Amino acid sequence: MFRRQVYLQSMSAKIQYAYLASEGFQDQLVNELEGIQSQHGRLILTDCLPVQPPLWAQNCWRNPILIPIQSISDAAQQLKSLQRNWSLYSFHLHRRGQLIQDQLPSVSAKPLHFPTRLPQSPLGSWTLLDRETLLAASDCSSPFPNGAIQFVEDKTHPPNRAYLKLWEALTTVQEYPNSDQFCIDVGASPGGWTWVLAKLGAEVLSIDRSLLDERISKMPGVSFQKGDAFSLSPEKFKESRDQTDWLFSDLVCYPEKLFDWVMMWVESGICHNFICTLKFQGDSDYQIAQKFAAIPHSQVLHLFHNKHELTWIKLKAWETIPE
Ligand SMILES: C[S@@+](CC[C@H](N)C(=O)[O-])C[C@H]1O[C@@H](n2cnc3c(N)ncnc32)[C@H](O)[C@@H]1O
Repeated sequence: MFRRQVYLQSMSAKIQYAYLASEGFQDQLVNELEGIQSQHGRLILTDCLPVQPPLWAQNCWRNPILIPIQSISDAAQQLKSLQRNWSLYSFHLHRRGQLIQDQLPSVSAKPLHFPTRLPQSPLGSWTLLDRETLLAASDCSSPFPNGAIQFVEDKTHPPNRAYLKLWEALTTVQEYPNSDQFCIDVGASPGGWTWVLAKLGAEVLSIDRSLLDERISKMPGVSFQKGDAFSLSPEKFKESRDQTDWLFSDLVCYPEKLFDWVMMWVESGICHNFICTLKFQGDSDYQIAQKFAAIPHSQVLHLFHNKHELTWIKLKAWETIPE
């Protein structure tokens, strides 16, 4: 037992980070990481600090430790002695893992009502590497179990489920358009994102080649322009208004094309906040995502509700935070 403990301690010292890949995007995450030590389902252990935050991780476990366990109750005791709230990532030994988790204080798994504050209590993550070894990290990047944010869905009003990714993006950054603000929503049809923005009370100019769902176009504060979003330039926009608080894009287009168009708006200084999805096809090269991430005061994330796409977010509020 003593030799095993020494071995686990030396292994713990080696592992700096564990990254949980978004479901279906393990390969993308593996390609991004350096110093990979091992992979356990979607969890990838590395021995070095990241140069930049990986795009395809749904949760990052900082400084995880290996803990030898003698029984289910011993495992639960050891986790409880570290902190109160834990969430299990289970990739094998599911029953044993669940029996341990059942002995830990319960963590609410209730879906959230949008808009909502982020959970404030720290949430650790743990997994069973084998029957007698836990890997546990009290410090994780996501306050949600395995980085999965779940909402109480509205199955009646929005025209599709695209609204969930905008709910998640706004919840993640804890910034919301309000009734004093003006938004442009490009690639808006049938209107899931426009529905979110109008419900928050904002004024929205929606642009798409296809029409909005009729119920959405009739919402107070919504106006619609049919046509090519790329033909709207900051100069043209300035003919009718001085500025826009938000620019949203869920356009299906090449991210390279979106980058050039978005940069015009960034450089114009007339738009304060941006949320745009970058959509990829097949075996993409993701270099363009790094170009977006390099835009000052912005981040690129893979949200739980994103499929083969990333979300780029740039906020005015981040301009006061040193890069
Ligand atoms: C994924 S859908 C958007 C869904 C929308 N965000 C929602 O919540 O309902 C992508 C939209 O981009 C639009 N689109 C693609 N290229 C466009 C362009 N150049 N100009 C305007 N709309 C475009 C398509 O017509 C399509 O409606």
